[in-house]
Amino acid sequence: MKIVVVGMGYVGLVAACCLARSGHQVIGVESAPEKLSKLRSGILPLYEEGLEEVYRKTVESQHLSFTDDLREAIEVADIIMIAVGTPSLPDGRVDLSQVYEVSGTICEAADHPFIVVMKSTVPPGTGKYLIERFFSKARVPISYVSNPEFLREGIAVWDWYHPDRIVVGCDDARTAEKVLELYSDIEAPKVTMDITSAEMVKYASNAFLATKISFINEIANLCELVGADIKAVAPAVGMDKRIGPHFLQAGLGYGGSCFPKDTKGLDFVSTFNGYSFNLLKAVIEVNAKQRILAVRKLHKLLGGLVGRRIAVLGLAFKPNTDDIREAPAIDIIRYLVDEGAEVAAADPLAIRNAASQLPPCVKLSPDPYEVLHGAQAVLLATEWPQFIVLDWGKVKGLMREPFVIVDGRNALDPEKLTELGFIYCGFGVLPKFRG
Ligand code: UGA
Repeated sequence: MKIVVVGMGYVGLVAACCLARSGHQVIGVESAPEKLSKLRSGILPLYEEGLEEVYRKTVESQHLSFTDDLREAIEVADIIMIAVGTPSLPDGRVDLSQVYEVSGTICEAADHPFIVVMKSTVPPGTGKYLIERFFSKARVPISYVSNPEFLREGIAVWDWYHPDRIVVGCDDARTAEKVLELYSDIEAPKVTMDITSAEMVKYASNAFLATKISFINEIANLCELVGADIKAVAPAVGMDKRIGPHFLQAGLGYGGSCFPKDTKGLDFVSTFNGYSFNLLKAVIEVNAKQRILAVRKLHKLLGGLVGRRIAVLGLAFKPNTDDIREAPAIDIIRYLVDEGAEVAAADPLAIRNAASQLPPCVKLSPDPYEVLHGAQAVLLATEWPQFIVLDWGKVKGLMREPFVIVDGRNALDPEKLTELGFIYCGFGVLPKFRG
């Protein structure tokens, strides 16, 4: 099939590359000049494991090309996939301006029937609205399908080929079948439903995962008060098949471009529809509190923050990405600096992205040992594997008293670190914390 993918963010680019690899003829549309010129000159504008190879091969075999001219690309399309950004507005509402702009252009340029597939995360009800406002008014028939994406950043290519399910929301069975043909080489349950329900599946999934994280964080906080250990509790809870072992890692909570945006977006949709989604509000509040809790732990263990030297390990919102959007580390560092601490931070990939988001006084380096030099405390904010296996004896030699470690991801070995003479403090981890 001839497919146009609009928006070369991590969802759009991965979709474009993987569909081209399946033998489809794909045009990737990107309006940002810098990104487009990179894509055209063989440089990936973002880091995704395994993507480079798929991109190189599909460009070489001429299955994949790039343009900024959406109107021209549409001329040959069987399917147009929309994968543009839908960021949060300050009030939590989802900013759909890019979706509206692309939809308007598609309708104006449409001169033959095709299918529009929505991959961007849009609030429930958006598809119906887009059909009414744009697609039903085109000169030619345009079918509309909601096909939410469940890719995780960093391992999006693997996720593309191994999804737990493929969801297609459509009012017409034949159109749904045609869209499912795109995934004929992927083994996964394929579920069809109406458009609004498909949109809701995406929000409900992300909100539920966020709920699991905030829930286990609350249990961890309670563990600290009653003297239990979340590292024993969470895995045992997760052994119940009805609960499952995933997303029960307590610590600084969730960040990234998806969970924070989607939880706030769903909360807004609820309020707009006259419903107070109290559980979701609590999930959002708990997540914000975890960051403050980290600052509180540092404050307590260092006996104040003014003039204290603190090393932060990790800036990205999770390992294997350079993405710092809504990353806990960024908020926490700003807070620490405001409170008078001297902060240095290390990250293997995210230094460049973080530099513009942090006060200039924060020293940044890809080398953890460099930022640990002279530090009185270290906060592990992202569980990069290379941070877990640091030579902690050497770290101790570089640091100054009182040798505090706040493990924001409960990823380090408390016993070993305590033996080395550190004051170890996780989130709900026994027996090191005496809050
Ligand atoms: C998330 C979803 O997992 C994807 O299914 C979805 O497609 C994507 O959002 C999206 O909507 O586009 P992603 O944001 O890449 O993917 O990141 P996750 O791996 O899900 O992690 C999100 C955050 O939760 C990270 O900050 C991570 O550190 C945190 N987390 C995760 C925890 O704090 N505890 C856990 O147990 C698991």
